[in-house]
Amino acid sequence: MRTPNINIDECKKRRARLADKVDDAAIIVSAHTEYVRNHDVHHPYRQDSNLFYLTGFEEPESVFIFRPGKSPETVLFVREKNVTRETWEGFRYGPQLAQQIFQVDEVYTVDQIDAKAVELLLEVSCVYYSQYRDSWFDSHFKNLMLNVKAKSGRSGKGLMPIYDSYPLIGELRLKKSSYDLELMRKACDITVQAHLEMMKQCRPGMSERELHGLFIYEVMRRGCAREGYGSIVAGGKNACTLHYIFNDEVLKEGDLVLVDAGGEYKYYSADITRTWPVSGKFSSAQKRVYQKVLDLQKSLIDVMKPGLVIKDHQQMAIEGLVDIMLDEKLLSGSKEQLIENNDFRKYYPHGLGHFLGMDVHDAGAYEVGGTSRPYEEGMGVTVEPGLYIPHGDESAPAELRGMGIRIEDDIVVTVDGVENLTVAAPKEINELEDLVGSASGFVNSL
Ligand code: GLY
Ligand code: MN
Ligand code: MN
Repeated sequence: MRTPNINIDECKKRRARLADKVDDAAIIVSAHTEYVRNHDVHHPYRQDSNLFYLTGFEEPESVFIFRPGKSPETVLFVREKNVTRETWEGFRYGPQLAQQIFQVDEVYTVDQIDAKAVELLLEVSCVYYSQYRDSWFDSHFKNLMLNVKAKSGRSGKGLMPIYDSYPLIGELRLKKSSYDLELMRKACDITVQAHLEMMKQCRPGMSERELHGLFIYEVMRRGCAREGYGSIVAGGKNACTLHYIFNDEVLKEGDLVLVDAGGEYKYYSADITRTWPVSGKFSSAQKRVYQKVLDLQKSLIDVMKPGLVIKDHQQMAIEGLVDIMLDEKLLSGSKEQLIENNDFRKYYPHGLGHFLGMDVHDAGAYEVGGTSRPYEEGMGVTVEPGLYIPHGDESAPAELRGMGIRIEDDIVVTVDGVENLTVAAPKEINELEDLVGSASGFVNSL
């Protein structure tokens, strides 16, 4: 038997909060599709965050139907027990154990879903399901809705209203409970340790991939199941590719390396970026620009508190970065005009940050009623200003070309301010210069 990766009481609390948001409804959440890599080999499987959030169930081909206030209220569809398949793929709960361990009212095998789900939906007046996200259940869902309509006779009601479940559940996930926060802290603590190890081991001549491999090793040995996203390990000008994925070049003396990497612990992801000199010493131009980005990043964290409107926070980042661009002679002219014309996008093409939680770019709406929302207690967000000067930008001062700097911390909004979950990851120039390359016993050969 496998031990669930969640506290089931927490799932029950989440379902109770969800129940308060709907009336006479069924909420359907399906597992992620399993993708074949080749022949009978699959890509590593990770459960859909919403399904895991509400049930803790990690197997593919499962579906959860939640009907607040009805009986049965919670119904899970799972794969059957199958000794042969389990010999190849490992343990499956099957209906009986799944009911007992995950504490839901009824459990059926997934091949019963078409018939059983119709009965369940006939007793509600609307359904929440997020279509076009996972293909395997979408076709079942279409038949299900048509069958429900057919079975409703000539009631004149037509197809039952379908609402997207994603924003509904996303709003819950956005405000972290103390349980969520404990796991986020752990993901962040582990990721900080892994960044420290990367800094210590970093040397010119090492490949981006070796540093990436070290990160995976350091987070997995501390209990993470995987990375929260594809790590970015970008030496020199590669840092100007925002989601650089190749990680296969050699780190060079004199370059900076930008590492954006986060471990995922029990379905919660960290998301840390640090930029440091490969050789352990910043050049004077690197030092000057890095310090400016760092000062801005710290000031952007200092102003955070409940009530600060996200768009206003983004605007502060833009203004601060445009000041740096003017100061560094990357741009010239009127600050207002450069902002108005989006000219700064050449050197700062992304946003200040994003919600963070079970998914690195987490669920939750950034706008409410068409306007940017304020930060609220319990939100997890990243703060990650960056400055990227393309290698071939002949209008930029030569000493800055190919320089990419991003500094990213993971923040939780508290009742009257914030908690920086990744504050222990070094980012001051003197700390980085002391740490980088400081590991003893390093052997730079394979
Ligand atoms: N790691 C991707 C991001 O920072 O958004
Ligand atoms: Mn981020
Ligand atoms: Mn990141």
